[in-house]
Amino acid sequence: MSKIILITGGAGFIGSHVVRLFVNKYPNYKIVNLDKLTYAGNLENLRDLESLNNYVFEKGDIVDKEYINRLFKKYKFDGVIHLAAESHVDRSITNPMDFIMTNVVGTVNLLNAAKELWKDNYNNKLFYHVSTDEVYGSLGEKGLFLESTPYDPQSPYSSSKASSDHFVRAYGNTYNLPFVISNCSNNYGPNQFPEKLLPLFINNIRQGKKLPVYGDGNFTRDWLFVKDHAKAIDKIYHYGKEGETYNIGGFNEWKNIDLIKVLCKQMDIALNKDQGSSQSLITYVKDRPGHDKRYAIDANKLKKELGWEPTLQFEEGLAKTISWYLENQEWMDNVTSGEYQNYYKEQYK
Ligand code: NAD
Ligand code: TYD
Repeated sequence: MSKIILITGGAGFIGSHVVRLFVNKYPNYKIVNLDKLTYAGNLENLRDLESLNNYVFEKGDIVDKEYINRLFKKYKFDGVIHLAAESHVDRSITNPMDFIMTNVVGTVNLLNAAKELWKDNYNNKLFYHVSTDEVYGSLGEKGLFLESTPYDPQSPYSSSKASSDHFVRAYGNTYNLPFVISNCSNNYGPNQFPEKLLPLFINNIRQGKKLPVYGDGNFTRDWLFVKDHAKAIDKIYHYGKEGETYNIGGFNEWKNIDLIKVLCKQMDIALNKDQGSSQSLITYVKDRPGHDKRYAIDANKLKKELGWEPTLQFEEGLAKTISWYLENQEWMDNVTSGEYQNYYKEQYK
């Protein structure tokens, strides 16, 4: 094996797409997927890889320092691609401490383990930290987030991610640890846990349940198909400049309510329902506290320097996403049984 790479959070939504891309594209890399399998982690996302000999799964918690140190000694990783995180803003409002533990303490545990393992020779080593555009805060009607935009996180989730980004840069600055960071906009696609907008609404439409739109629905997000994010991570891991930050985005801004109406139209077609029937499920509900108004990414640095661009038009990506969820109802039924029902009741009571 020419490289041994640790991917954290590989059983989650984005992580599973990154693991699959690396395992298939680089048969001479050994990919170790470390995941705690929280409610958001699901080994079903990776069943097709289980028999491959360049893929290993390790169940563990990045908050457990001793365990992490043992894992780094066992595998002697050449690189780390760190995606493990608590990732949902609404849950961070209910329970900020989980976010501090995993996103901040867990990241520092990984940084310490990498620093210790690589201390004699940083050559060809890399700590890649996967982050979010939410660290930049909220935009008004105009403007885009650049890599130089000052951090201004507004939710417990984005504050914990901002803190982890700062720690990664601090380890670069203080200990010369080789790192890159990317900050990406909202992802959508197969395997996303149905607490996030699109899979939640797809599942509700399928079941004829209401679509809870927060506030007036005029909040703007930039949407990127998850496989395009995974491709960007591949480019940045291999060709990104050490110590740099890259913004990743879809060049694809939507107001929530407009996006939801497009989703409803496509769902009516996919389910052979009368046009307008999914849209009739829209219900405006109490706004999320501290709801960020607008995120919009300028991803031109990545485009110019590394030649990355999104490959899918949004309508096409959305159609693929809808088909995946409708063809994988068992996946959806499994992740929405049990604890999810309590979460849903509590969040949307
Ligand atoms: P996710 O919630 O779907 O998956 C997170 C994974 O991390 C799960 O498999 C979970 O089991 C694992 N995990 C959680 N706590 C852990 C711990 N203590 N130890 C080990 N594993 C743990 O998240 P996602 O949407 O795939 O996001 C992945 C990364 O990308 C996160 O760092 C997130 O901040 C970032 N990101 C997400 C988006 C998005 O739109 N989803 C956008 C930009 C950046
Ligand atoms: P979400 O998928 O939670 O991602 P993020 O908050 O990280 O951007 O939400 C996307 C947008 O959709 C956000 O503006 C909040 C809104 N939203 C709703 O209106 N209703 C919902 O039930 C959810 C989950 C989100």
